Amino acid sequence: MTEELLIAAENEITEKGFLDVDIDPTLDLFSEIEKLKNEKNAIILAHLYQEPDIQDIADYVGDSLGLAQKAEKTEADMIVFAGVHFMAETAKILNPSKKVVIPDLKAGCSLSESCPPPLFKKFREMHPDHVVISYINCSAGIKALTDVICTSSNAKVIVESFPKDQKIIFAPDKNLGAWINKETGRDMLLWNGACMVHEIFSLEKITRLKVRHPNAKLIAHPECEEPILRIADFIGSTTQLLLYSQKNEAKEFIVATEAGIIHQMMKQAPSKTFIPAPPDNSCACNDCPHMKRNTLEKVYLCMKYEQPEILMEESLRVQAKKSLDRMLEISAKAGL
Ligand code: 13P
Ligand code: SF4
Repeated sequence: MTEELLIAAENEITEKGFLDVDIDPTLDLFSEIEKLKNEKNAIILAHLYQEPDIQDIADYVGDSLGLAQKAEKTEADMIVFAGVHFMAETAKILNPSKKVVIPDLKAGCSLSESCPPPLFKKFREMHPDHVVISYINCSAGIKALTDVICTSSNAKVIVESFPKDQKIIFAPDKNLGAWINKETGRDMLLWNGACMVHEIFSLEKITRLKVRHPNAKLIAHPECEEPILRIADFIGSTTQLLLYSQKNEAKEFIVATEAGIIHQMMKQAPSKTFIPAPPDNSCACNDCPHMKRNTLEKVYLCMKYEQPEILMEESLRVQAKKSLDRMLEISAKAGL
């Protein structure tokens, strides 16, 4: 690219989040993406909330922990991260020699945004005798202010790796934090953040649905609010929900998490029925607007032009890596 074109491309990415280049409508994007994977020695990592086509073209589909573990270990030259910004950023922190690209740089996360580093730094300073455990759904700035990161798959194990009397700050998800407090008998100090997708489920509508489907199991992500978790038959991370729905003998499941996961649930157990838990609004979908910014077209474009790329200041990366490394160590010891 000439310097002028490069500046124009950078401006477009800043404004739109992706390079808005016309794509020949006759192109078979699946085979073009496969070709690019081989040409560029690229790996596509996709979160379970991505749209079905992206899940189908990915080399690995999983939850935040699985994705971080894959990103750390991959020998590919380019990591195409089909997820949200904090996930791609985590991949770069863990494996900095790789080029990490994301289909849409503006794929953010309401939970991550609920915890700005300058404010959190002050909060931490107000509680110097507390260790900080942060949910992976946070920025590199928060990871750098954290002692250990956790995901919903390993939060209990991470918290229990500290003595019972250790004072702990848990950020940024108050719902996950409250659930872990209940599970472990701790009294962690919770940051007041939440996920916009998991807070919209309607207790009343779910209860009515359970009456209509008495044999259905309600499965919920721990980012849901306490009244939903209280009536859930199973609570777990996205991968844990997927495994439960495969292994449990029930034939119907009410799924209280982002609806993208249902594609994988149906693929792995086609004879079962998966009902998205109804939200408390007039819309019938539980889509995360951030996750759903990624499309197959944008996956193709980011692979072809190798942009938008995740870049980060080295001192921030090194500081943020400490809390992620600690999480990966504790998880490996626990066999996760
Ligand atoms: P897990 O995939 O780790 O369960 O996290 C869910 C989530 O909200 C990701 O944004
Ligand atoms: Fe963030 Fe919630 Fe979307 Fe996950 S589902 S990326 S926590 S806003």
